[in-house]
Amino acid sequence: MVDLEPRRTDATEEAVADVTVRAREFEAEVVAVESVMLDSTLITVRAPNGLASQVRAGQFVDVLCRVDGSYDPLLRRPYSVYRADPSAETLTLLVRPYGRGSQWLAAQGVGTTLDVLGPLGNGFSVAPRSRNLLMLAGGVGAAPLVLLSDHALADGRNVTYLMGAATAEALLPAGQLPSDVEYVVATDDGSRGHRGFVTDLLPEYLRWADQVFACGPGPMFRSLRDVSRAHRVGGKPRVQVSVERGMACGLGACLGCVVETRQGLQTSCVQGPVYDMDDLVW
Ligand SMILES: Cc1cc2nc3c(=O)[nH]c(=O)nc-3n(C[C@H](O)[C@H](O)[C@H](O)COP(=O)(O)OP(=O)(O)OC[C@H]3O[C@@H](n4cnc5c(N)ncnc54)[C@H](O)[C@@H]3O)c2cc1C
Ligand code: FES
Repeated sequence: MVDLEPRRTDATEEAVADVTVRAREFEAEVVAVESVMLDSTLITVRAPNGLASQVRAGQFVDVLCRVDGSYDPLLRRPYSVYRADPSAETLTLLVRPYGRGSQWLAAQGVGTTLDVLGPLGNGFSVAPRSRNLLMLAGGVGAAPLVLLSDHALADGRNVTYLMGAATAEALLPAGQLPSDVEYVVATDDGSRGHRGFVTDLLPEYLRWADQVFACGPGPMFRSLRDVSRAHRVGGKPRVQVSVERGMACGLGACLGCVVETRQGLQTSCVQGPVYDMDDLVW
């Protein structure tokens, strides 16, 4: 039975204690800015010692999106780590302008200093024996799967990256992915790749994949769940999804980002944002 009371379990207490040890607040100088995917921006910031080599794909950072001395907007905004470069000691974020915070962040230029908290969250888990990894991305959900692809290739695994968007301009340019990644796209209007939903492509790849990793909008997840039900055998391949909830604190304190799982209600900022799809109650 699902625990409907969003209270702190021992596991949550441990996870919160762990995240407060691992997470750090740091000042990050913007060192590069690049337009990508229609209206989005890649922002590369300097990261403190060792962080770029420690961050796990699927983890995120919480960024203060306001000028020094202002309290508006009050709350930090969460962003997945899109790329981490240990040699340059940088992290890159993919920012789509939705509202005040993200518009402010996307407008920052080289030389600006950002107040960043992180890395936060659990990140994706790749099983040691998994050779073939299938990514499924929609919109800015592309971000954590780019870092996961980088790490997977460095470990000698095979990556196929499926991405869907409304039009060709809204897709991640192929040049953003390592050349060893097989990149397959779908667009609603057929301007590039398959005409239709990216999840239409799944049946062809599910038998090849040892694991599937997905990040994108709600309708994509619902379609992923339906296609998986019809095409997975014995729950294989396992599917991990990164969920996106509004996050006020990012540290497990406000309980604003709770998701319902088979183990009860969990704070997705600490115990997520990555979940085994079959553990989610939806
Ligand atoms: C774990 C996690 C990782 C994330 N990673 C990324 C990332 O890599 N890149 C990225 O661009 N965003 C990412 N997001 C979403 C990002 O945090 C929000 O877009 C941002 O907080 C919006 O803040 P805002 O002040 O601009 O918008 P607000 O002023 O808070 O909202 C303005 C309007 O936009 C709508 N809105 C806000 N966010 C979204 C959204 N994501 N989708 C659709 N409508 C939205 C709101 O409902 C509201 O109507 C992530 C979110 C989470 C939880
Ligand atoms: S954002 Fe506050 S508990 Fe998750």
